Amino acid sequence: MSKLKRRTLVGVAGIAALALALSACGSGGDDQGGDDRIVIGFVAVGPEGAWRAANEQNIKDTFTAEAGYELKYAPATNLDQQSQIAAFTSFVDEGVDIILLSATEATGWEASLRRAQEAEIPVILVDRGIEPDDPSLYVTRIAPDNVEVAKAVANWAVSEFPDGANYFVLEGPPGVGVVNERNKGWDSVIGSRSEFVKVGAQTANWSAEEAKSVFETVLRANNNNIQLVFAQNDEMGLGAALAVEEAGLVPGQDVKIATIDGTRGALEALAEGRLSFVAEYNPLFGDTLVDVVQKALAGQSVPSYIIVESLTFDSPEAAAEALPNRKF
Ligand code: AHR
Repeated sequence: MSKLKRRTLVGVAGIAALALALSACGSGGDDQGGDDRIVIGFVAVGPEGAWRAANEQNIKDTFTAEAGYELKYAPATNLDQQSQIAAFTSFVDEGVDIILLSATEATGWEASLRRAQEAEIPVILVDRGIEPDDPSLYVTRIAPDNVEVAKAVANWAVSEFPDGANYFVLEGPPGVGVVNERNKGWDSVIGSRSEFVKVGAQTANWSAEEAKSVFETVLRANNNNIQLVFAQNDEMGLGAALAVEEAGLVPGQDVKIATIDGTRGALEALAEGRLSFVAEYNPLFGDTLVDVVQKALAGQSVPSYIIVESLTFDSPEAAAEALPNRKF
């Protein structure tokens, strides 16, 4: 079944949730003491690296008072889900017009989402999905397609290593939806190829520092016999490059590192040849979000998964060309 058809099917469920959510809502901003601004509760992730900073700043720059919004920004405390659930609950109790949710954990959201539905407050998932995925509980998810983005990295690896390679995966935190989706995309291409040998996988929590220490240990334990690293985000890829240099090897030659995100730091490292492939995970959702918020509050239908287009960079030249106008 092609992606488009699946989306339409799920879209129907999304519309049903939407219609349900809006049937009593319908009033827009003036639930909040008389001014007409649309009040948005943003259950955010908070500090977590360059990509997250770009994504959340873009949302803050989009939903301004001048544009007719009141954005209530609630970052998680140390990525803790309980702090997110508490913020979500208080937004429902306050009766905000719409909730944006970037979940630090994929599971454990059913009860909160049902409460929002009972309170007829539409919920939009920003970047992160939920598990189990039940589109009847939210209006839509807006994000690049993690499975396809990871497939692009894997397809590059297959063309870069025609005879295969020993590889290692640096993963994001366990329990985060995008981590599972990125593994799914990578394994769907590489998993069946015997010439690619998986030495191992380990979380480095999106952190350059942790990735450096993890990969230093892995290189030592494997006598530096690893040719390829799939780093699930830029910071971890940059950490792996430092570990390679620490081992007296040359990143981009002895060990090739591919990352996901496409932040400035990664493109600079690709331009220098220290990274070998960067798949963008475009963080600029603002305009798409405005469109969805407006449609949701006007009772119009939206697909339940809206994919944000993303690019790939497979050479120092491509990175150097993109850098001057890079917004994140
Ligand atoms: O959910 C997206 C991921 O979260 C990004 O790839 C990573 O850098 C961020 O922290």
